[in-house]
Amino acid sequence: MSLEAQSVVIAGGGSTYTAGIVMMLIENQDKFPLRQLKFYDNNQERQEVVAKACEVIIRERAPHISFLATTDPETAFSDVDFVMAHIRVGGLKMRELDEKIPLRHGVVGQETCGPGGVAYGMRSIPGVIELIDFMEKYSPKAWMLNYSNPAAIVAEATRRLRPEAKIINICDMPVAIKKSMADILGLKNENEIVDRYYGLNHFGWWTELTDRQGNDLMPRLQEHVKKFGYAAAVEEGNPLLGEASWMDTFQKAKDVYAVDPDTVPNTYLKYYLYPDYVVAHADPQRTRANEVMENREKNVFAECQRVAREQTAVGTAIEAGEHAEFIVQLAGALAYNTYERMLLIVENNGAIANMAKDAMVEVPCIVSKRGYEPLCMGEIPDFQKGLMTQQVSVEKLVVQAYLEKSYQKLWQALTLSKTVPSAKVAKEILDELIEANQDWWPELK
Ligand code: NAD
Ligand code: LMR
Repeated sequence: MSLEAQSVVIAGGGSTYTAGIVMMLIENQDKFPLRQLKFYDNNQERQEVVAKACEVIIRERAPHISFLATTDPETAFSDVDFVMAHIRVGGLKMRELDEKIPLRHGVVGQETCGPGGVAYGMRSIPGVIELIDFMEKYSPKAWMLNYSNPAAIVAEATRRLRPEAKIINICDMPVAIKKSMADILGLKNENEIVDRYYGLNHFGWWTELTDRQGNDLMPRLQEHVKKFGYAAAVEEGNPLLGEASWMDTFQKAKDVYAVDPDTVPNTYLKYYLYPDYVVAHADPQRTRANEVMENREKNVFAECQRVAREQTAVGTAIEAGEHAEFIVQLAGALAYNTYERMLLIVENNGAIANMAKDAMVEVPCIVSKRGYEPLCMGEIPDFQKGLMTQQVSVEKLVVQAYLEKSYQKLWQALTLSKTVPSAKVAKEILDELIEANQDWWPELK
C-alpha cells in the first residue's frame, strides 16, 4: 500500500540544520513521502541563501515535491500536516553572550544548561508560542515537532501556555549518544538498541539497554564508558568524533558515569556534576558559539551559495543530517501509525512514579496516529530524584518569571541552578543578562 504524501513546513528555514534536514527528507521518500515542502523564517535574507540551494537540490533529486520559502505566516502554515521547528531566537550572536556572560563570573556558559539556557529560554518562549499559534490558525490538524532549544524550558512553557496544542518536544542528543553506543558495541546502528531512559531534557540516565533479541548490552557498554566515556576508540584523540569540544564532552562521560555506575548518563550532565572542570577548560574569549559561527554556519552558508551559483548539487558537501533521522521516524509514526518507541519530552503524569505529575520529563513513548503514550519508568533513586527536582524547579521558575515578568523569580531560578554558586553571583549574572537581552525579554519588575 502506498503511503499518503505529506506537507511539511520547516520553521527556521535559515537554520544551519535546514539543508541537512532537507537532504534527510529526500533520502527517506520511501518512508515519509512529501507532496509539499515549505520554509518559514522571520529573516528573509538568511532563509533565502538556504532556500536557493534547496530549490536546486529538490529539482535535481525529488522534483515531485513542490517547494517554496516565505516569511508570510499564512502562506507558510496553511495546508501543512507537520511543522518541524528549529528556530534560534536572537541568533548565534545572542548565544555568544549567553555563554560569555556567565563565564565572566566563573560560571558554566552553555547554550542550554545554567544561566545561558535560562537566558535563551526567556527568548525562545514567545518565538515558539507564536509558531504554535500560526499552526493552530492555519492548519489546526497539524503536529508540531519542536527541536528549538532550550527544549526543557520551551516544553514547560508550552505545557503552561498552550496545554492542548499538538506539539511534541524532542532532542537529538540521546540519539547521538546511542549512535556512539552502537559504534562501541559493534552494532549496525542505534535502531538496534532498545532502551529504558528517564530524566529531563539534557539531564537523564539510561537504566537498561538491550539488542532487539533482548540481550543485555549494559555490562559491555559500562565497561567501555568506565574507561573511555562515549569515545568510540580506545585511544584518546580519536578523530572520529570531529570537533574538539564534542570529543571532550564524549570523553568526560567517563567521570559522569563514575558518580552512578548503575546507569549510563546523558553527556550534558557534565555541566551540572563537573561545573568547575567545565569552567576551568573554557576559553571566555572563544566559546562554542564562536566555534559554530566559524565552522558550521560559515561552511553551510558557503556551500549553499555555491550550489545556488552553479545551479547543481552534484557532488555537494551538504549531507543528510544523520541525527535528524529521528524526526522522520517521529513524523512517520504519527502519520502512518508505526508504534515507534522514541524518547520524547512529555508531561510526567506518573511515568516517573516519584516525580511531580506536572514535570516535563524525557522518557520512552510509543508513538502512533493517536499521538504519544509514555512508558512507566517506575521509582527513581534519590540521587537522580534530588537533581531532577532541583532542575525542574529552575525550569518552572523561568517560565513563571516570563509570565509574571518577575525579576525575583528569575533571580530564584538562577540561584537554584546547580551551576551557580550563590545568590550574589546569580544576581550579578542576571543583571548583565537583562542588559544584554533588552530587545528580547519582557521588561522585568
Ligand atoms: P540558526 O541561528 O542558524 O538558525 C535559526 C533560524 O531561526 C534563523 O534563520 C533565524 O532567522 C530563525 N528564527 C529566529 N527566530 C525566529 C522566529 N521567531 N520565527 C521564525 N524564525 C526565527 O540556529 P541553528 O544553530 O541552526 O539552530 C537552530 C535551532 O535548533 C536552535 O534552537 C538549536 O538550539 C536547535 N537544535 C536543536 C537540537 C535538538 O535536537 N533539540 C539539535 C541541534 C540544534
Ligand atoms: C549546536 O549549535 O549545534 C548546538 O545545538 C549543539 C552544539 O553543537 O553545541
